[in-house]
Amino acid sequence: MNKFNEKIQKAIQQSPQILIKISQIDEFKGRWKGELNLSPKILKRLRHAILVASTGASTRIEGSKMSDQEIENLLQGLKTTKLENRDSQEVAGYSKLLKLIFEGFKKIKFSESAILHFHKILLQYSEKDKNHLGNYKKTSNAVIAKDLQGKEVILFNPTAPYLTSKEMQELVDWTLSAFQEKQIHPLLIIGYFVYEFLSIHPFQDGNGRLSRVLNVFFLLKQGYNYALYASLEKIIEDNKSEYYLSLRLSQKNRKTKAENILSWLNFFLDVLIKQTQVAQELLDQKKKEDLLSPKQSMVLELIRKYKSSKIQDLESKTKILRPTLKQVLGRLVDLGLIQMKGQGRASYYIRKA
Ligand SMILES: Nc1ncnc2c1ncn2[C@@H]1O[C@H](COP(=O)(O)OP(=O)(O)O)[C@@H](O)[C@H]1O
Ligand SMILES: [Mg+2]
Repeated sequence: MNKFNEKIQKAIQQSPQILIKISQIDEFKGRWKGELNLSPKILKRLRHAILVASTGASTRIEGSKMSDQEIENLLQGLKTTKLENRDSQEVAGYSKLLKLIFEGFKKIKFSESAILHFHKILLQYSEKDKNHLGNYKKTSNAVIAKDLQGKEVILFNPTAPYLTSKEMQELVDWTLSAFQEKQIHPLLIIGYFVYEFLSIHPFQDGNGRLSRVLNVFFLLKQGYNYALYASLEKIIEDNKSEYYLSLRLSQKNRKTKAENILSWLNFFLDVLIKQTQVAQELLDQKKKEDLLSPKQSMVLELIRKYKSSKIQDLESKTKILRPTLKQVLGRLVDLGLIQMKGQGRASYYIRKA
């Protein structure tokens, strides 16, 4: 048996729980297909919000300090702004790449050259990465962390530069044939790919970010379409210490008989389950909105359109009488679709979702 398949089989044998998690995710995949049917306008708005949230989370995992709001502002003015600092260069590249994947995943074929191309897009604005973008590493790139005393400790030693190209080729070949042969569940192929990719650490920098984009790319290609509307990167950011721990545990005995990818696979599937829960909330929300009266929908739409709305503004825009308008607003607040801020005459309403 192929050595990658063997590692996956070993993990499944140890923990049949893995298969239960997979079926839970697949059950949601089916539900999403059957139920979501939002207007293209709303879907576009959601996709943009996810693009910002994912870019923010994935770059912050690697040290960026930019908030989602700062990223939103940056993207608005991207054509005119000069990207002076490292964070904004990394954010601009990540969002470009993720957008390309969101829009083009159906047409883009997975291959080694696609990986190199993605890396180039990811780092296209980064001053410090000019010399290596789109190329595998030429010097070793141990993952290093600082301990409490500020001393550098090696977290793990990835594949040596001279072996990188060979191992990447092997990984890509295996991934392509595994998807084709359908003997292993696609989620296990994706999970294993991400683990192996991070273990090889093929690039001088950008491995973490690229692995997360590739993860999303594969999910979309395999029909997990809700990945466009629930940010994988955000969930990883929120569980960053488990992320590192599970990688470290699985990595520890890499290339020996004792290598055990179970902790990584469990972490990976848990993240995907959380992602289905976020997407489920969208479905629930949609159900609530389907039950709204025409007046309630109209007011919700207006509140979503503007940053904040006062009752007077809503009254003049909708021509709904004040007492009815108050009822409508109360209902929308109760449903958790909008929020009231401020008090008395100064109060105003903002969107919640
Ligand atoms: N023990 C480990 N084994 C494998 N990969 C790891 C381990 N610890 C961390 N990583 C991965 O390495 C990434 C950091 O690598 P790096 O090339 O600097 O990525 P980026 O430039 O996107 O910051 C982390 O986000 C994580 O995905
Ligand atoms: Mg880095």
